[in-house]
Amino acid sequence: MHATIVPQASHTTLQHVGGYATMRDMPEEHAATASLELISRSVVETVALGRRLGAWLQPGDVVLLYAPLGAGKTHLTKGIAAAWGVDEAEVSSPTFVLVNVYEADRAHGRRPIYHVDLYRIDAPEQLVALGWDDVLAGDGLTIIEWAERAEGWLPREHLAIHIAHLGPEQRQLRFCAQGARPRQVLEALRADLLRDAARAEQQDAAGD
Ligand SMILES: Nc1ncnc2c1ncn2[C@@H]1O[C@H](COP(=O)(O)OP(=O)(O)O)[C@@H](O)[C@H]1O
Ligand SMILES: [Mg+2]
Repeated sequence: MHATIVPQASHTTLQHVGGYATMRDMPEEHAATASLELISRSVVETVALGRRLGAWLQPGDVVLLYAPLGAGKTHLTKGIAAAWGVDEAEVSSPTFVLVNVYEADRAHGRRPIYHVDLYRIDAPEQLVALGWDDVLAGDGLTIIEWAERAEGWLPREHLAIHIAHLGPEQRQLRFCAQGARPRQVLEALRADLLRDAARAEQQDAAGD
């Protein structure tokens, strides 16, 4: 079963975008910034958010995930990969092999999705043996868990996502886009989520 964003849930989530309840409240200059803060209230919401993000990603894009164990990096990755036609069940933390490669569906040109987990890496020099050049070659999508362990080996242009625990099921996700292309992705995602929020608001108003 694939998760979808429940309007009420996304509405709630969206109330946290930049601290503004609606798009109207958001100053112009903030709408143009390259960062975004969201609250996820369940694992389903995190996977759904990954799907939303995945829909805007293209081959060559690099997503860096920064978060402690159990924050939801792998579940966010499940959503991203699902948007490229990969079965969520196939996506798990590549803790022992360090890199999993999934094949995207035909609509995504059967491109590789490199899912990297650097939790167990001892030194960044090990990245060479791991096939780091392939991972960052740009032919596919690259998602890196524990990106901080590859400090100095990461592309300048990337979409970084920091996840923090707020409660047993609550997570804060902070997106930070570095470079023109990642900014485009982030703005597309923001617009996507704001459309949802506006729709939910209309529904609420109609229900009053
Ligand atoms: N809002 C949430 N988002 C993501 N995971 C959540 C959330 N709430 C609870 N969880 C649970 O937290 C765990 C996250 O695991 P995982 O995605 O493997 O984390 P990581 O890859 O960061 O170590 C899962 O057991 C999941 O069910
Ligand atoms: Mg993980």
